Amino acid sequence: MSSTHSAFSLFQEGTSSLSITKLDSVINTIKHYIPKLPSCTIGDLHISKPIVQGGMGVGISLSGLASSVANQGGIGVIAANGIGLLEKDYYKDGQGANIRAFRSEIQKARSLSDGVLGVNIMVALADYLPLLEVAIEERVDIIFLGAGLPIKNIPIKKIRANNIWTFHKSSTQTKIWP
Ligand SMILES: Cc1cc2nc3c(=O)[nH]c(=O)nc-3n(C[C@H](O)[C@H](O)[C@H](O)COP(=O)(O)O)c2cc1C
Repeated sequence: MSSTHSAFSLFQEGTSSLSITKLDSVINTIKHYIPKLPSCTIGDLHISKPIVQGGMGVGISLSGLASSVANQGGIGVIAANGIGLLEKDYYKDGQGANIRAFRSEIQKARSLSDGVLGVNIMVALADYLPLLEVAIEERVDIIFLGAGLPIKNIPIKKIRANNIWTFHKSSTQTKIWP
């Protein structure tokens, strides 16, 4: 059986833990398929590899990962959730730390890549609106919203005026606007 087939059967079996050999086979499958993926455009954004890197909070999806993915032609994503943990004063001023770290990571990613950069902001976060403002001010390419209904005072006009795309990420449907 080829490594491609064994990786797929691995997923079908619903195996919960991966051995190094199996992980190798998953990586080979990814390497096999990525060159075959068609490119994609969203408005004037060109995405040569139609892959959205997952927004993973608490300091995982930061500028390093996002800019690397964007430089490879995918959509790099910085996650806002708990990003302030990078700052020394997080436990004194959580919101201030989140805003500062979020802005700094977006700017860092932008300095490292001309590719497509998005952010992930969970609607359920207490500081969701101030974080949204930072994303708009920094003019990211795409804002991915999720974990909550997208009805909490989204500044749609401002987002559109800054030529930013918004996706709502949900388990039942994904919507794109404008
Ligand atoms: C460690 C970790 C942290 C995550 N943090 C977030 C988050 O902050 N916001 C969010 O919308 N999704 C979060 N997710 C979900 C991912 O963005 C992604 O939607 C999910 O992992 C499904 O993609 P996958 O099937 O490729 O893993 C997280 C996932 C992981 C594994």
